[in-house]
Amino acid sequence: MCRIFAAVISSGDVASTLKIGLKRLEYGGYDSSGMATIADNSLIIKKGVGKLDEVDSVVHFDQMKGRIGIAHNRWATHGYPTTINAHPQVDCGSRVAVVHNGIIENYMELKEELIDQGHTFKSRTDTEVIAHLIERSLNAGDDFVTAAIKSSKELQGSFAIAALYNGEPNKIIAIKQESPLLLGIGDGMNFAASDASAFIDKTDLIIPLEDGDLAVIDNLGYKILRIDSGKGVNRDFVKLSMKVEDISKGIYSHYMLKEIMEQPLSLRYTLELQSVYLDVITELMDRSRTVYLVGSGTSYNSCLAGSYIYSKIGAFPTIPALASEFGEQYGRALDVDSSLILVSQSGETADVLKVASLARMRASTVLGITNVVGSTLTRITRAYIIQQAGPEIGVAATKTYTSQLLTHLKLALNIGRKRGKLSQSEMDDYTTAFELLPELTEKILKGVYNSTKELAENLSGTNHIFFMGRGMNTATAYEGRLKLLEISYMIATAYSAGESKHGPIALIDKGVPVIFVVPSDETRKTMISNIMEIKARGGKIVVIGQDDDKELMEISDKFIPLPSMPDIITPIGYILPLQLFAYHMALVKGLDPDKPRNLAKSVTVQ
Ligand code: F6R
Repeated sequence: MCRIFAAVISSGDVASTLKIGLKRLEYGGYDSSGMATIADNSLIIKKGVGKLDEVDSVVHFDQMKGRIGIAHNRWATHGYPTTINAHPQVDCGSRVAVVHNGIIENYMELKEELIDQGHTFKSRTDTEVIAHLIERSLNAGDDFVTAAIKSSKELQGSFAIAALYNGEPNKIIAIKQESPLLLGIGDGMNFAASDASAFIDKTDLIIPLEDGDLAVIDNLGYKILRIDSGKGVNRDFVKLSMKVEDISKGIYSHYMLKEIMEQPLSLRYTLELQSVYLDVITELMDRSRTVYLVGSGTSYNSCLAGSYIYSKIGAFPTIPALASEFGEQYGRALDVDSSLILVSQSGETADVLKVASLARMRASTVLGITNVVGSTLTRITRAYIIQQAGPEIGVAATKTYTSQLLTHLKLALNIGRKRGKLSQSEMDDYTTAFELLPELTEKILKGVYNSTKELAENLSGTNHIFFMGRGMNTATAYEGRLKLLEISYMIATAYSAGESKHGPIALIDKGVPVIFVVPSDETRKTMISNIMEIKARGGKIVVIGQDDDKELMEISDKFIPLPSMPDIITPIGYILPLQLFAYHMALVKGLDPDKPRNLAKSVTVQ
């Protein structure tokens, strides 16, 4: 959802550093890219439409001179993806350059006011008003910092901004309000970025900014001021454990494939979550009358699976909810006895953060599960768990989904134990089941790589694919569908199989493919009845089931066998073939699975 990066170094040209960082932030948007640097007291700006490499092949970012610069990948909100609308945006005199992530809600009023005062706008973006506001203050005699503070006070909405001014050519100004922004503090070089992966090869020391902070950065240091008071403030450093290898593709052709294949490892890390964090969350859940599990997209699907998991393991009721609907659906029901577990890989999804504000206003307990250290979610929750899946770059969430599921499993075991709902042998069985995961997922991934590729080749010509599951694996069907449609653009529908007779079966005709998720658990028998109903109407039956299940094999047109596994971990085991199926389908269709159209990894606008 747009990503910004700003860097200042002591000597040499900063352009290649900016380009490398921008490449790592490409998951945030690839409608256009652009950079601004200052050399000889003049702003240099290059930008264009398309993915970074496409733009670079035309404008040659590396040729830009200057030690200081700002850069941007755009996910268009206001204004079509055109070169004029690409960032950086500038003022009338091209002295101020601005990159921005977020939405300026009052930009129309500001724009009209500035036009009345003689400013000329070139783009249709909301961002351009920021450059003109700063210009107006500079023209009135303010210095860059004062102009930036005054301008920030006029803005409503969400913004992470980095700005340059050629009249004070050694400074970057970085401003945070609701959109992610952190500083990177290096040796003779300093950075501001939406995400630390931009500069992780240069420094692992970050300072997450708070809403209402304005940072002034040069090559020797930084200072942070509060926008409301103009006073200086100290913020804590965080040392990251992320390494460059974690954010490179390694031997894989795509991040998505790398992240799918590294699930045995990411699950191993999640298995090692420190019990102290789990215990705090368990304690706060236990004290609540109602616990909501809230997320968007894939994270919501993990909440849906989670609601079954807490009930099955811990005999503990929870309410799964979509973040974007939460306020309308449950807002007035929240009170001091409610807890919310906000689940967000990035920890920056605007809809999720909005739920946190609402919940805090109503005195509810806000808890979190996220994958990103230093993300906004970690700063606004009473307690949180870092999933430990490692950085996820592919836009489609894969390893973070399974690690969210494992986090729910571990919390469910904790709450069941705390409430006395489990015998010792049940607790031991669950623990043993979780510990099987790294080895089991490795075996599954190897076993289904080719068969899911064949399936993708086989089904690539169809118009509409159905996914059906039951119980916990309703979430698996939903997640399989989300993966397929977002990266292959195929029309896909997912239902709880029990619902198929209440409408969707009307769409079944000869040859319509339906992928059934059928572990050998208590749902299997009814699933077989649902399969027979679809089969009787000519549907093409694809089943993911246990490798020794002869009956399933016989009734299916295509069978993807998985090894036997304890029921409770089937949502993790059974999503793996569906992730690979979606990946292969994107390739069969000649699409880049890492950069699906219109999507961004982290959705920082509502
Ligand atoms: C799907 C996907 C999105 C995200 C959603 C929430 O593959 O990646 O649906 O799951 O945008 O993102 P987070 O988890 O960062 O809040």
